[in-house]
Amino acid sequence: MFRSLFLAAAGSARLERMIESAPVSKGIVRRFVAGRSADEALRVSRELADDGLTVSLDHLGGDTGTPEQAAATRDEYLAVLGRLREAGLTPAVEVSLKLSALGQETDDKLAYEYAHSICKAAAEAGTTVTLDAEDHTTTDATLETLLELRREFPSTGAVLQAHLRRTEGDCRELATAGSRVRLCKGAYSEPESVAFQSALDVDKSYVRCLNILMSGEGYPMVATHDPRLIAIAEDRARWFDRSTGEYEFQLLYGVRPEEQARLAAGGHTVRVYLPYGDQWYGYLMRRLAERPANMAVLARAVKSKK
Ligand code: FDA
Repeated sequence: MFRSLFLAAAGSARLERMIESAPVSKGIVRRFVAGRSADEALRVSRELADDGLTVSLDHLGGDTGTPEQAAATRDEYLAVLGRLREAGLTPAVEVSLKLSALGQETDDKLAYEYAHSICKAAAEAGTTVTLDAEDHTTTDATLETLLELRREFPSTGAVLQAHLRRTEGDCRELATAGSRVRLCKGAYSEPESVAFQSALDVDKSYVRCLNILMSGEGYPMVATHDPRLIAIAEDRARWFDRSTGEYEFQLLYGVRPEEQARLAAGGHTVRVYLPYGDQWYGYLMRRLAERPANMAVLARAVKSKK
């Protein structure tokens, strides 16, 4: 109920204006999002890189129903990749990409073409692209696009969601040499027919998937803030004789920064998922929805405007 409250708030333009203008809540936005512009994304990327972290930059653009919006998303990625290269921030900074933002739903051929040009620009800049996972109705199409892109750009990363029942099988398919796979719990609300519903079942699935990825030949990217799962991942790396350069941890910008620093200090590669762009509001609400304590923080912040 708490989660759905936040997710409902994600659609409120009035609340969005309040949050952006109230002094304290501006700070909350800044905690989770680099800013609106590529300039801000580069500045925060530089700070994170200086702290010994790596980054996956995600552009939060408009909802893409139109070819114009899809083309604008592609152009944004091409521009930011050029700037990352000029700034000497590659390969420490890569990009994450949602195929829906390239119009996957309306024209998957065009989305592939745009994703291809982004992967090409990333390769020229000396870095990589990871394809975000969206709701389960897109999984097949996204994995097909991934396999197609990997023919030319083998380092293109996949994201698999442990809450989906199919994911153990997908892990087996993708645990091959050179295959970069980000394993997360899954952020979308999914029906019981396709997804585990209880937190315990999702965690158990996460561990089974982790076992497959860690014992396989690919490059596992362990995307979670869950202390228990992080500890299990460290264990599995030892069991399967992986050195710290043979897998990485990934956490969201602003979430458990002390853990990000601890893991990096322990010699791990830690990648911070760093969003930026105009459409920050829906992203922020989803992050706040993930943690009950965030509700009080936000309520105080909005109240401070008065
Ligand atoms: P869980 O939600 O159980 O959290 C464990 C602990 O972490 C909490 O108890 C709390 O301490 C802390 N925590 C977690 N979220 C917090 C927050 N927002 N604020 C403060 N503390 C918090 N999903 C998806 O469907 N497709 C995708 O492509 C991606 N990509 C992605 C990339 C990266 C790098 C990460 C880290 C995550 C994703 N996700 C994602 C999101 C993922 O599926 C999931 O929703 C969140 O990571 C939360 O799950 P945890 O594994 O952190 O566990």
